[in-house]
Amino acid sequence: MNSFIAQRALDIDASGIRKVFDLAAKLKDPINLSIGQPDFDVPEALKERAIDAIRSGKNRYTPTQGVGGLLDKVKAKVSHDTGWSDPAALILSGTSAGLMLAMFATLNPGDEVLFLDPYFVMYKHLPKLCGAVPVAVDSYPDFRFHAERIEAAITPRTKMLILCSPNNPTGITLTQAELEAAAAIAKKHHLLVISDEIYDAFCYGPHLSVAKLLPDQCILLKGYSKTYGMTGWRLGYAAAGGEAKAVIEQMTKLQQYTFVCAPSMVQYAALDTVAGDTEGHAGGVDMTPQIDAYRRKRDRVVEGLGELLEINAPGGAFYAFPKVPQKVTATEFVARAIERNVLIIPGNVFSARDTHFRLSYATSDEKLDRGILILRELAAELSR
Ligand SMILES: Cc1ncc(COP(=O)(O)O)c(C=O)c1O
Repeated sequence: MNSFIAQRALDIDASGIRKVFDLAAKLKDPINLSIGQPDFDVPEALKERAIDAIRSGKNRYTPTQGVGGLLDKVKAKVSHDTGWSDPAALILSGTSAGLMLAMFATLNPGDEVLFLDPYFVMYKHLPKLCGAVPVAVDSYPDFRFHAERIEAAITPRTKMLILCSPNNPTGITLTQAELEAAAAIAKKHHLLVISDEIYDAFCYGPHLSVAKLLPDQCILLKGYSKTYGMTGWRLGYAAAGGEAKAVIEQMTKLQQYTFVCAPSMVQYAALDTVAGDTEGHAGGVDMTPQIDAYRRKRDRVVEGLGELLEINAPGGAFYAFPKVPQKVTATEFVARAIERNVLIIPGNVFSARDTHFRLSYATSDEKLDRGILILRELAAELSR
């Protein structure tokens, strides 16, 4: 063991996903259905604004909380979307930064953090970095919010509940009734709810949020990464109302001593184009065609795999989480898919179970169709 390395780093096990990437590295031109980002590029209007910002010298530190105009637009949008009056907000280097800062600002050692299994992997690792305890609550087989299971997992140490809708890795979107049940539990036990809404634009029905129901105890996390194909640009925001505004204040302080600020030119690019967008196409940047294309890809996946594999039709994001045939584990199924040049991710990367796989349909229709065909053949062989 290397004596330079801290235990908290060693405690994070990334071997599952690394194995997949190692196998993938050997493939030539794979059908890659494992990617967690859109296959479309940043809209030209945004690129132009970022270039203009760089050329006009917007290259220095910005205020920690974000450039004023952007912050104002974000707050106005949050008020519009949630009904919160006078929310607090913080511009972030991506939603990931928001998850990290929110946890560092609120979790004491031993505090427990609830979220549904399957989960986005950061939900498991970030609490541990704070000395807190991640508690993944099984949501199989339908990946829905089962209030009674969440209630059963609550202890006097439970402090936080993370919701992610639309969900990574399942694509499930929560219903109004589920959000109301979650809000009722949060109120009853005075939990802080983190609502991770990074996939809000990728909703194939209306986007519903728990934020409206929790004006005092919700940290809303939103990001521009996925919506505008700008995952490398690093921009998102956190917002809160009521008692939770104090959390944003602490997150801002922590940002000052960690990330410092979100990338300046990206903040200015967003300020002039997409920030404040309440309809999905502010500043001449309309993502409707891209989102419609993703809806059709979702339909292709459900139609193509649905008769052979158990699959909960995703309501959003760009993932599906089908069950593998009983004969094999997900890890074995994925290894066989990779032998046939199709890259997917085994469920145990996101879950205590190894029975499903994550398929990302963020790729061309041509590749998606080829991938679906190969997965159908594999499923049929293993179901015999
Ligand atoms: C559920 C979820 N939350 C947060 C993130 C982080 O996104 P970013 O830091 O790019 O805003 C991702 C990225 O994959 C995600 O899937």
